[in-house]
Amino acid sequence: MSALSVTKRFGILTAGGDCPGLNAAIRGVCRAAHDRYDMEIIGIAKGFKGLIDEDTKVLRPDDFSGILTRGGTILGSSREKPFGPTDKDEPASEKVSAIVDTYSKLKLDCLVVIGGNGTNTTGSKLSREGLNIIGLPKTIDNDIVGTDRTFGFHSALAIGTEAIDRLHSTAQSHSRVIVIELMGNKAGWLALYAGIAGGGDVILLPEIPYDIRVIGQHLEKRTKSGKTFSIVVVAEGAMSVDEAEMDKKDRKKYRNETGPSAAYRIAREINEETGMETRATVLGYMQRGGIPSSSDRVLATCLGTAAVELLAAGKYGRMVALTGNDITSVDLSVPEGKVKNVPTNHYMIDTAKAVGTCVGA
Ligand code: F6P
Repeated sequence: MSALSVTKRFGILTAGGDCPGLNAAIRGVCRAAHDRYDMEIIGIAKGFKGLIDEDTKVLRPDDFSGILTRGGTILGSSREKPFGPTDKDEPASEKVSAIVDTYSKLKLDCLVVIGGNGTNTTGSKLSREGLNIIGLPKTIDNDIVGTDRTFGFHSALAIGTEAIDRLHSTAQSHSRVIVIELMGNKAGWLALYAGIAGGGDVILLPEIPYDIRVIGQHLEKRTKSGKTFSIVVVAEGAMSVDEAEMDKKDRKKYRNETGPSAAYRIAREINEETGMETRATVLGYMQRGGIPSSSDRVLATCLGTAAVELLAAGKYGRMVALTGNDITSVDLSVPEGKVKNVPTNHYMIDTAKAVGTCVGA
C-alpha cells in the first residue's frame, strides 16, 4: 500500500539551459512519487513552453526507467520566459494566463520546475499567480541563491578541468599562452574551480574586472622564471576594468565590435600587451553535454526524492536545496531574481593567489 500524500497529481518540467543530471532528477522525482505515493505524473515538454502549448503527456514507469545516466533531458527544454525577459515583476501576460489555464485543465495539485535562476524565478512568480510550485536547482553555473550547490556543476567542472589538463601539453610544446573560456556569464564559479583544479596561471572571473597590464606583468614574470607557456582560464563573462565601467548597452556594442567571445578578445589583448604567441579555445556546449558525474547523479537523485516529500506533505512554494551536507528547502522567493556571484573575498580566490595564480587585479 502506498503512503498518504496531499499531492495526487503533479506536472514536471525542465527549463533553461540543459545540464548533466536533469534525467537523474526526473527519475528521482518520478520514482519516489510513483513507488512511494502512487501519484500521477504529467510530463511537460520543453519547459514553460509545453504549458503554454499544452504539450504534455502522462509519465509511466517505462518513461523514467533507464535514464539515470543519460545527459540532457527526456522532457526537452526551452528558454521560454512567460513573464518576459527581465527580472522585473511584470503584469501577467497572455502566456502566464495560458500556463494557469493548462495547470487547471490538467487538474494539477502542483508543478515541479527543474531549472536555474530564471526557472525558479518564474516558479516563484507563478506561486503568486496561485499555482503550487516546487523548484529544483540545476545549472552548470552553480549560481543559484539558496543552495550550496546545483547539480550539473560537478560534471561541467570535470570537463573543464580535463580540457585545461589537455591544453598544458600543447601549450608547452609550442611555448604559447593558451586562453580557455568556460561558461559562466554572470558568475565565475566554474572558471574558478576548474582554474584551481587544472592549475591555471591566470583565472579571470566576471566578478573581478581585470587589468591587462597586471596579466601581462604576471606572464612576463613567468617567462623570466623559465616557464615557457601559460594557461589563462576565463569565464565567459570576464571583463576588463574598462568594460566594467561601461553600461550594459555600451558593453554589448563594444563586444560586438571586438568579438563576442571573451577568450578571443583576451588572447588578442595579451598578444598586444606582451607580444607572446597566444591562442584561444572556447569549450562551449561540450560542458553541458554527456553523462552526469557520479556526484551530480547523487545530488540530483537526493534533491528529486526530497521534492517528493514536499509534494506529499503539501509544502508548496519551496525550492529543495543542499545546505552543507544536508538536503533542505528554502522559500521560492529566496532565489527569485538573484544570481549567486563569487564573493571577491571568497577563500578560493585567496587560495588561487596563494599558489601563484593571477586573478587579473
Ligand atoms: O545557464 C547555463 C549556461 O550554460 C550559461 O553558463 C551560459 O551563459 C548559457 O547557459 C548559455 O545559454 P544558451 O543555452 O541559451 O546558449
